[in-house]
Amino acid sequence: LEPKNATVAVPCRHSLPMPTQSLDSIPGPKNWPLFGSLIEVILKGGLQRQHDALIDYHKKFGKIFRMKLGSFDSVHIGAPCLLEALYRKESAYPERLEIKPWKAYRDFRDEAYGLLLLEGKDWQRVRSAFQQKLMKPTEVAKLDGKINQVLADFVSRIGQVTVNGQFEDLYFELNKWSMETICLVLYDKRFGLLNENVNEEAMTFITSIKTMMSTFGAMMVTPVTLHKFFNTKHWREHTKAWDRIFSTAKIYIDKKLMRYTRTTEPSDDFLCDIYRQGNLSRKELYAAVTELQVGGVETTANSMLWAIFNLSRNPGAQEKLLQEIREVLSANQTPNAELLQRMPYLKACLKESMRLSPSIPFTSRTLDKDTVLGDYSIPKGTVLMINSHALGANEEYFDDSSRFKPERWLRENCTINPFAHVPFGIGKRMCIGRRLAELQLQLAICWVVKDYEIVATDNEPTMRLCTQIIRKKVIILDVNFWR
Ligand code: HEM
Repeated sequence: LEPKNATVAVPCRHSLPMPTQSLDSIPGPKNWPLFGSLIEVILKGGLQRQHDALIDYHKKFGKIFRMKLGSFDSVHIGAPCLLEALYRKESAYPERLEIKPWKAYRDFRDEAYGLLLLEGKDWQRVRSAFQQKLMKPTEVAKLDGKINQVLADFVSRIGQVTVNGQFEDLYFELNKWSMETICLVLYDKRFGLLNENVNEEAMTFITSIKTMMSTFGAMMVTPVTLHKFFNTKHWREHTKAWDRIFSTAKIYIDKKLMRYTRTTEPSDDFLCDIYRQGNLSRKELYAAVTELQVGGVETTANSMLWAIFNLSRNPGAQEKLLQEIREVLSANQTPNAELLQRMPYLKACLKESMRLSPSIPFTSRTLDKDTVLGDYSIPKGTVLMINSHALGANEEYFDDSSRFKPERWLRENCTINPFAHVPFGIGKRMCIGRRLAELQLQLAICWVVKDYEIVATDNEPTMRLCTQIIRKKVIILDVNFWR
């Protein structure tokens, strides 16, 4: 799980032995009584633009700073040497910040926890059950056929769903694409989300995930116990959404396992193999699979949206990418995991897009022991925020950091510190869907660029993206999203 070339660590002041200082000496924005720095962050654009505020704070305070938002106190790190130090001192079962609303639902309905929620030995047991299938490149490569099956539909849908060349909601289309793919991988079932008329079950499934995601934020910053006690709208909608997600997932997991118990043949099937080898109870499998599904939809869709955005703004890179694709693929040939190995520029384009515009700007760790990081001794229980977006935007680690330059990853003596690019997190708790997401995104970029030209139709460096896709057909992708 160590990032590639992890030995190439650029030493910095913080990696040298120095007398350590206490948590209270860590610099940071002004901490007002009750509110902490919340008002300052709101003035900087609010929690939705928090990633930009974090970049500013790193510029002002350096590689490490401490911030309180209301009662939420955390230490932010944004330097490869500090990430590496954390990684080297990682315990057997690293912990992330608790997602209390999700836990509250599971406890309420007596459901199990999955990888996003579990801690300690239970987390490790469930993680090992999925590790081989999801993190081993040769295993993940076997999924390219399923990924391509959905991509063929997605690409033909680009031609169908545009009205006068306009995509009404590209982000939703991409969410349907990523959800259809993860469902096919997990349940071996096509939900038909890319069909012209989506059936009710599939639509309910995807809208429930959307509702569940949009209702938990408020319950992260206000006590979920109060929401539950007063049965607030957020709690009711959140619970109803999870109920639907669980009931649909259970139906398809049960169907899958029923098929498996009827045969003693080695299945070479994702879920059945995990159930066969993993020593998980049915209840644990329901929770773990549901969380894989939830973890894999928006993250992948968002990364694809940004890849489209970045390629539309950089026609030179897109042309170079097309040349590479044409050199590797013969006419009408479908890309696959093996052929992607011969497309380094494509991989660099995705990497660069994820550096510039990561779909998750930070992850967290709750320290389970006192830990020295750089100049500071940080006590057990402290929440550390690992600011991957701020790292990717830092000129110290990426020259010309605001520009999309895939070439930077292909330089002969590439000196980029692997701990400076961590869109999937680090260490033992790194994203378990990383390899699947990368394969899915690389194939998707290949399919789209092979057949279409993505053209930006506005020149403003705003989040409003008007993109025209031409080559086979003239299509305008009109995306409105705010980040
Ligand atoms: C965890 C990013 C796709 C399932 C994470 C973490 C990040 C992340 C940053 C936290 C890692 C850490 O704390 O060190 C992404 C991005 C994706 C993506 C950017 C797409 C581009 C997926 C997919 C799946 C998935 C496709 C499911 C197949 C999970 C799970 C965890 C996780 C279950 C928790 C792992 C654990 O704690 O053991 N992801 N992810 N992710 N992700 Fe992803």
